[in-house]
Amino acid sequence: MFENEDYADESLVVSTKTEYDAEENVLRPKTMADYVGQQKVKENLGVYIEAAKARGEALDHVLLYGPPGLGKTTLSHIIANSMGVSIKMTSGPAIERSGDLAAILTNLNEGDVLFIDEIHRLNRSVEEILYSAMEDYALDIIVGKGPSARNIRFSLNRFTLIGATTRIGMLAPPLRDRFGIINRLEMYTAAELKEIVTRSARALDISIEDGAAAEIARRSRGTPRIANRLLKRVRDFSAVKGNTTITLADARFALARLEIDDLGLDQTDRNLLGALIGKFGGGPAGLETLAAATGEDANTIEDVYEPYLLQLGFIARTPRGRICLKDGYAHMGVEPSMKARKQMSIFEDE
Ligand SMILES: Nc1ncnc2c1ncn2[C@@H]1O[C@H](COP(=O)(O)OP(=O)(O)OP(=O)(O)O)[C@@H](O)[C@H]1O
Ligand SMILES: [Mg+2]
Repeated sequence: MFENEDYADESLVVSTKTEYDAEENVLRPKTMADYVGQQKVKENLGVYIEAAKARGEALDHVLLYGPPGLGKTTLSHIIANSMGVSIKMTSGPAIERSGDLAAILTNLNEGDVLFIDEIHRLNRSVEEILYSAMEDYALDIIVGKGPSARNIRFSLNRFTLIGATTRIGMLAPPLRDRFGIINRLEMYTAAELKEIVTRSARALDISIEDGAAAEIARRSRGTPRIANRLLKRVRDFSAVKGNTTITLADARFALARLEIDDLGLDQTDRNLLGALIGKFGGGPAGLETLAAATGEDANTIEDVYEPYLLQLGFIARTPRGRICLKDGYAHMGVEPSMKARKQMSIFEDE
């Protein structure tokens, strides 16, 4: 029935920012109570939100960081909802000139949230406008040129900046330091992801067996976005088979067709591990070297693939590059050499 199509062709792991499907909105939790997991972050934010509301003030600026698909955008909407304010969405690369940012800032109402996605990609002159905006709710604009240039200061409504980034290390320290609340989102446990899959199935009117939901959850690499995607793909396979409920067998069949293995690794993950082991004797290999060897983009490897491989303890980052660890070798069914074994022993028992 599925003989001639290559379902594994399209990546389930990498996402493009422009991809918005109609079901996305249905799946996004709207309240803290519906937002699964991230307990510590939720509790802390809950306190800050209550306190800010009690004082009648805007919430302090919030920075959310962590790998893609863990719920940064979703959480930002929830924060704005809880504060009872509106949210304006933009992103680092979308704001080209400082005038663009000035226009956005002057249009914010008292207490509003400004969400800047990929905030590490703001350009320098735009970023500098943000400093006084965040600190003093003021906009410093230079009028005129040369000796007659003057600085004019406009005041802004008090607002909350929520910045999201997958790369906290690329944020300039002066920008980072202006966020009063900095939260890292963690990968989700299988139990949390199962709850998300079950909830999403209900929202999409999909009937799914418990075991199938658990199977999808376990193979979603700790990431709600991937869990939701896998659910939809599995639904398609199950529907084409004529089933009205997704069974465990359906889930396993579809995931095999998608070339998602037992731990949720896809072909690219396996290529990366394979190259690290086969071409570089287990490493260390630099990011660019690995990118060249696998034909993947270095940024994609760093943002999307590595976090899960690190989380599994399959690889480690060393000052000299990436190395493959014992469990990575075992997953690939390769016996590490003496040299590789010696190298990994330094990093394995920390
Ligand atoms: N805690 C959660 N509970 C339930 N569903 C979630 C949760 N977090 C994320 N999701 C689901 O995963 C999807 C992706 O989340 P979101 O777009 O917020 O991720 P992101 O961190 O902003 O990713 P990116 O870095 O790529 O922008 C959401 O549409 C939502 O359906
Ligand atoms: Mg996002």
